[in-house]
Amino acid sequence: FMLTGWYYAFVIQRYSSSNRPSTSSNSIVSPRKSGVVTQTFDAMIDFRRQQARRTLLIHLGRSHSESELYKLCSRIGSITNMTLYTTNKRECALLEFSNEQSVKNLLKITSHFTNENRLPCVSRNLYFASQYTGARLKYPPVGREVQQPDDLLVDKALNDIHNVSDQIRYFWQKTKLTEVDTRLRYFVASLVEEALGSIFVDTVCLPFGSSVNTFGKSRCDLDMLLSFEDFRNKNIKFDGKMQQLRFLTKRSYLNDRFQAQAYLKILADTLKHFMAECTNVQIILPARVPIVRFQHRLSDLQCDVSMSEFKSSYYMSKLLWSLSSTDSRVAPIVFAIRRWAREASITQSAPGPWFSNFQMTLLVIFYLQSIEILPKLNYINEQYTTATTATSSFQDGIAANGDLSDDVILMNELENIRHIPANKANNSSLAILLKGFFSFYEKFDFQSSIITLLERQNMSKSSLIQAGKDKEWPIFVENPLVPSMNASKNLVESEAERFRQTCTKASQILSQSSKNLISLFEECRQAIPDDLIARAYPAPISIMPDLETDIDQEELTTIGHIQQEQIERAFDHSH
Ligand code: GTP
Ligand code: MG
Repeated sequence: FMLTGWYYAFVIQRYSSSNRPSTSSNSIVSPRKSGVVTQTFDAMIDFRRQQARRTLLIHLGRSHSESELYKLCSRIGSITNMTLYTTNKRECALLEFSNEQSVKNLLKITSHFTNENRLPCVSRNLYFASQYTGARLKYPPVGREVQQPDDLLVDKALNDIHNVSDQIRYFWQKTKLTEVDTRLRYFVASLVEEALGSIFVDTVCLPFGSSVNTFGKSRCDLDMLLSFEDFRNKNIKFDGKMQQLRFLTKRSYLNDRFQAQAYLKILADTLKHFMAECTNVQIILPARVPIVRFQHRLSDLQCDVSMSEFKSSYYMSKLLWSLSSTDSRVAPIVFAIRRWAREASITQSAPGPWFSNFQMTLLVIFYLQSIEILPKLNYINEQYTTATTATSSFQDGIAANGDLSDDVILMNELENIRHIPANKANNSSLAILLKGFFSFYEKFDFQSSIITLLERQNMSKSSLIQAGKDKEWPIFVENPLVPSMNASKNLVESEAERFRQTCTKASQILSQSSKNLISLFEECRQAIPDDLIARAYPAPISIMPDLETDIDQEELTTIGHIQQEQIERAFDHSH
């Protein structure tokens, strides 16, 4: 059985009569356990993407009809895994075939039987109308366990655990993304990929951010990146002579940003008018990174698709994933700190002049590096870094022509981080690490030092000021992909100071033996000053035109042009 956060889920695994699972083995097989080698981030991503392409999402019209569905689909091909979950009172099955051809065969038959008023589109979102009226089928034998995943219930259970380390681990286990969550995320990305794939042949859509970097909380948003080439396979060599033959194509926009907007508009229109289960489609063009936002109903996921900075987002996810994989304490401690920060209003759900979850994660990693639980990143030559990077030719490590900077190429070496054994010398418990985080930052001198994951001899702000890279930001969190660039330009002095004060408060709370994780959350929440609660933060600047108002290309251009300055200002505040 799986405890699934939001869902009630159970799983049916493929078995043969000679290999029947015992009732107790009705658990979802993780890629590692299923014998699939997921040694690297890329391998994990590839495995999940393939799995998603072999998967269908089926809404069961009648509860308990899963056995009937299973039996029916077995006629088409061999089923590797069937996972049931319930969301918004709807029971659904994620059904994975062992090969992609079975999915195609099934869709072919299904499209024949789907009523004639439908749009001429096929999707892997299906509905199952049960016809069975007798007693429930007993095939295959499955077990079911209902779980109460609500945050309140997790907190209630936490109250019954007295050891802070156990509380942190329990909190992480009960709130992290589950197998079903993960499968659904790759599934939705594969739907987007398929939706555009028939026009743009090499479409790739990858989840990134907390959906893949091990820091995802159940029900967190799904961030996706859209590209029209698989940039990860740049090394494939082709017969040079064939370059004489070229496609005739339309001319692309000279400005990458307008081109991305044009693609996203097509995506938004496609999702809105043709893709089953994709609702509330909005397009946010003038944001620094234009996005298409929508809701996928059967998975109940809030999704954002972006195009620009495709590669840097991917490498950032890879970096965080790699660091997290070196030591099993990293993810639980990040979860505890993120929750604390949310309770204390250090972070907010909307972007603004306060900390983001991403920045908070970098702070935790920097602390874990300082106590040698995590390695410093040493792929950068410091002299080279201060002198030449963050220059105009590269933005977030990507050149205008799409090539990766040397730094990002070196990011490919990140996988090696995982092979550095966790520091056995520092076997501090999670409780010690939590306390340590607060005492570290209450004493940290933000005025003169920078937060950096890179191995630098000189971590003083003054070294960056001399190199012309620092403008005296209240907090300088170095972007590990673009050395010398501040990834916390949005932070204002008052938020930085409040963070330090709240660390002091947290430190005091945890120094009392009677206090635990729940008291930490509660007392920090109660300590939020009234004027802060009342303060109305400015909403982030964004335009969300309804797609009914058709935006033609000229208007797109105008929006991009007029708002440019405003956008840049907004970006300075929100990123
Ligand atoms: P959630 O709050 O759970 O969504 O965490 P998240 O890590 O997914 O954060 P978010 O959705 O805000 O951002 C998605 C990803 O974009 C992050 O994981 C980072 O990889 C990247 N990202 C976010 N903010 C920044 C930033 O300020 N600079 C850079 N370079 N990357 C960022
Ligand atoms: Mg996110």
